[in-house]
Amino acid sequence: MQRDGQIGAAEVGRTLVDAPQLRARVRELGQEIARDYAGSSSLLLVGVLKGAVLFLADLMRAIEMPVEVDFMAVASYGSATDSSGVVRILKDLDTPISGRDVLIVEDIVNSGLTLKYLLRNLGSREPASLGVCALLAKPACRRSELSIRYVGFEIPDTFAVGYGLDHSERYRNLPYIAAIAED
Ligand code: IMP
Ligand code: MG
Repeated sequence: MQRDGQIGAAEVGRTLVDAPQLRARVRELGQEIARDYAGSSSLLLVGVLKGAVLFLADLMRAIEMPVEVDFMAVASYGSATDSSGVVRILKDLDTPISGRDVLIVEDIVNSGLTLKYLLRNLGSREPASLGVCALLAKPACRRSELSIRYVGFEIPDTFAVGYGLDHSERYRNLPYIAAIAED
């Protein structure tokens, strides 16, 4: 059976990042992170549910040093154009992060409002360090004045699905990143 037919080819548009590109870049990011945190004995990867799940699963296997993982789930109020940046925590971390090296693992940064909230929230818990690794960044992200230490790919300003990213909860299982086709 054809993979795209199974998932719903009608709405999946052109490929933005294919599976080999994802594999290669995730391996590079893992090596970079392992090098940068070589002296750390307390690195905690915080995956942001649900979009970062596939990325985190691959990334953690590419980091050849001891790490721990935890998850947060957040929901943004309002529409994508809403600039209030009000975010609600649906699931918080299981453990305190005071004194630990924390790396937020995100699927995609668009306006940066979600990330800004997470940085403020987790920053107030006094981690030893707080960094960000985002698989994807959209152009708007450059205007957000956020410093994102690790970015996998910059993509055009189009709605992306696959490899964890959804459109109304669908297409997360697509093994590559594609644009949603405009009707
Ligand atoms: P921001 O707060 O505007 O940076 O939006 C970030 C969040 O919106 C991400 O964590 C995603 O959950 C979602 N998002 C933004 N752009 C896309 C996209 O192109 N595809 C899927 N989800 C997206
Ligand atoms: Mg997200």
